[in-house]
Amino acid sequence: MSLSPAFLDELRARTDLPTFVGRAVKLTRAGRDWRGCCPFHNEKSPSFYVYADHYHCFGCGAHGDAIRWLTEKQGLSFLDAVKELAAAAGLEVPAPTPQARAKAERAATLYDVTAGAQRWFEAQLWGDRGGAARAYLERRGVTVETARAFGLGFAPDDRTALKRALAKHPEPLLVEAGLLIQPEGEELSFDRFRGRLIFPIRDARGRPVGFGGRALGEVKPKYLNSPDTPLFDKGRLLFNLDQAAAPARERARLVLVEGYMDVIALAQAGIAEAVAPLGTALTEHQLALAWRLVPEPVLCFDGDAAGLKAAEKAARRALPGLAPGRSVRIATLPAGQDPDDLVRSSGPSAMQSVLAAAEPLHAMLWRAMLAAAETETPEGRAGLKAALAELTATISDREVRRQYEQQFRDHFWDRFGWKRGRGSASPAAVRPRAALLSAREREVLGLLTDLLDAPEEGCDCLELIAAIPVTNARVARLRDAIVGSLAAVPDLDRAGLQNNLGLCGLGQLCDWARMATARLGARRPAGSLHLRAEALAAVDQNRAARQAVADGLTAALADGGLRAEALFAEQRALILGRRDLHESFFERAQAAAMTSASQPDQPVKADDGENG
Ligand code: UTP
Ligand code: MN
Repeated sequence: MSLSPAFLDELRARTDLPTFVGRAVKLTRAGRDWRGCCPFHNEKSPSFYVYADHYHCFGCGAHGDAIRWLTEKQGLSFLDAVKELAAAAGLEVPAPTPQARAKAERAATLYDVTAGAQRWFEAQLWGDRGGAARAYLERRGVTVETARAFGLGFAPDDRTALKRALAKHPEPLLVEAGLLIQPEGEELSFDRFRGRLIFPIRDARGRPVGFGGRALGEVKPKYLNSPDTPLFDKGRLLFNLDQAAAPARERARLVLVEGYMDVIALAQAGIAEAVAPLGTALTEHQLALAWRLVPEPVLCFDGDAAGLKAAEKAARRALPGLAPGRSVRIATLPAGQDPDDLVRSSGPSAMQSVLAAAEPLHAMLWRAMLAAAETETPEGRAGLKAALAELTATISDREVRRQYEQQFRDHFWDRFGWKRGRGSASPAAVRPRAALLSAREREVLGLLTDLLDAPEEGCDCLELIAAIPVTNARVARLRDAIVGSLAAVPDLDRAGLQNNLGLCGLGQLCDWARMATARLGARRPAGSLHLRAEALAAVDQNRAARQAVADGLTAALADGGLRAEALFAEQRALILGRRDLHESFFERAQAAAMTSASQPDQPVKADDGENG
């Protein structure tokens, strides 16, 4: 049975999950969501939340969408679940037409052919004819283990080697799979990839669907890719997505880089959660794939002018898809270096620092727009304003759009506010903007200032600090940068932290924090940084959820294996009110808590990662 992803998406979108779940579980309103006692484990106080499109139990980690609800709770087969939902939603389950069936069969054979080619390429790399390619890999520092993990291969410099090797398949199929080139007219078909190192490109389910081939020498083109085929759609695939998905979910981080070699070098350096587009600019489909894994994928770009252009282009592409809690971050590499160069020249920690200092999208856009604008004249500044308005207009989520408008106004004010002149400025505007901070945020600012002076005090409470709810953009930016830096490099001292923040362009923000703390008399209650952070993090309506985070955290940390930055990212999601983005954290934290408490009545959940 092959139901199209589009149909399943439609089905999910048309299903009102709370109504459905409400038939079996008594639900009560919890803000915009619904809540009840979890049907998957025994509990007295409700920790089972139902959202429009999924449910999540903060007690046992049960999690899923409508289809999963029916298959797991009601015991229906996948197909029956789909039928029931479709009936409720008034949708018809598409019956496979003969054409669709034929297409599916053809696709199946294309998969076979492509998988056959992959095996053959790989065998060539490790066989007699693969010496030069193996030497090339060695020169580039790719280990045998890494090469095997990526299924790298080699296409010998021979017009018909693959054609002969795969002769058991019909020739037109090999052409359709993009493996052979069929010239116009009478000429014979021949191998597309010749004398190239082969990078298999797999779909999200790990099936090879195409190839990238790199020349071993100075041959043009440097990389040759499979043409678009029924299986291979360059705009809808990401290199290494299948292998990066699990570590990305686990670490709550996904890194998007430009090249295949970058992905491979990062994986070898311990950053397994990296993917790359296939030689074209990032598409919205690719962004959507990334957003399925993490709320804020990090896009890496070269620090040169071309890199800034590329980053701006990608940033623009991300705007329409932004949603509360869902964005991208931009990491800027040292000019002229790609991630492969950076880890080879400066080691994995250099890459980690670059990633930790990734900018929020709005900051990067502001920087790019400002760099391109003429701001000495009123007309120029008006032009910049108009360009910014054009950008925000492309954001489809209304609340995010409003936040961006506000954010850009703030950036504009910070940069050009003085040009309005003292006389005409509003009273609030001539005072430092920190005066607009709430008492609680001033307290946060005080805490951050103390942290700047004594970073070592914060090393045992970074997660708490990351969990403090902050609405002011500057305070949040400073907090994120400090926590990010300290999480990436735990033993950073005062000077080191200052230096790192300076490198990330945050020197002024630090000065502002110090100035504002001193001038506004930010409250700095007695007590250790840890206690203060704890108090600040706990003041919130989500107190219970936060307590669960803290408990889970303690358990998970005791269990080892959780990285501070992953927690950081996930807790940010919590702060943004996206409890649903927390699934991986809660699942792991609860799993850890469960193993330590070993409560036999709680179900252990297997995640097949398919079809919700
Ligand atoms: P780069 O030119 O940045 O190469 O292309 P790279 O990834 O650093 O590769 P090495 O280190 O020189 O081996 C980035 C990506 O753009 C696509 C490929 O996907 C490549 O990984 N590309 C590049 C092409 O498709 N064709 C080309 O001719 C060049
Ligand atoms: Mn490179």
